[in-house]
Amino acid sequence: MDIALITTEDGSHSLRNIALNETYHSIHGAIQESQHVFIQAGLQYLLRKNPKDINILEIGFGTGLNALLTTIYQKTVPIHYTAFEPYPIEASVYDRLNYPSELGANKKLFLALHEANWNNQIEINQGFALHKIHARYQETILPSLTFDLVYFDAFAPEKQPELWELPVLNKIYQAMKPDAVLVTYCAKGQFKRNLKSIGFNVESLPGPPGKFQMTRAIKI
Ligand SMILES: C[S@@+](CC[C@H](N)C(=O)[O-])C[C@H]1O[C@@H](n2cnc3c(N)ncnc32)[C@H](O)[C@@H]1O
Repeated sequence: MDIALITTEDGSHSLRNIALNETYHSIHGAIQESQHVFIQAGLQYLLRKNPKDINILEIGFGTGLNALLTTIYQKTVPIHYTAFEPYPIEASVYDRLNYPSELGANKKLFLALHEANWNNQIEINQGFALHKIHARYQETILPSLTFDLVYFDAFAPEKQPELWELPVLNKIYQAMKPDAVLVTYCAKGQFKRNLKSIGFNVESLPGPPGKFQMTRAIKI
């Protein structure tokens, strides 16, 4: 897989998939976008409900930025983090990503997220268990009524339409608990109509800098 390291407008790195001509994050700021969409609108929103533990599903582990941010922003409630990634990035790439220094985070922790074995649940630190699945999520059977929070961070619908269509979204819906939350940077009309037709309560929220809106969907 041909990948280029880029620096986004907030100084944090991201990657560009050359074949798809698609970046892993907003060029206006990778950390800024992930904090806004996944942490503030997702994790912190859920934490206000005082859960005993949180089961997270991420579609697209990629750079590991969302997993790292989750370990930083949540230290009291146990987290079980399941992430799908069919195309893991190589050590020569993740080793150069500047997220630990930009976030003042422990680089060993960031490397541990990447070095954790695939297809096994690994205790990264106390209260944070990581289960990375080396597969395309749309081809995998997901457990029912399991996840409290979904970080839906696939490449854009124009680039990977098969990941945003009704049957796969319905599969995610079935895997979520009642009242569970799905967050994504995408705010496309067709995507939101698909979510509504499945049974989600769909909210359009202000997007991160450079993007008008994002989406939060609650399973009802
Ligand atoms: C927009 S990037 C975001 C990655 C990650 N969340 C991050 O912050 O770096 C999308 C990710 O989805 C992965 N991906 C591509 N096809 C996929 C599939 N069928 N199932 C799950 N992930 C997929 C890509 O390889 C890429 O890592």
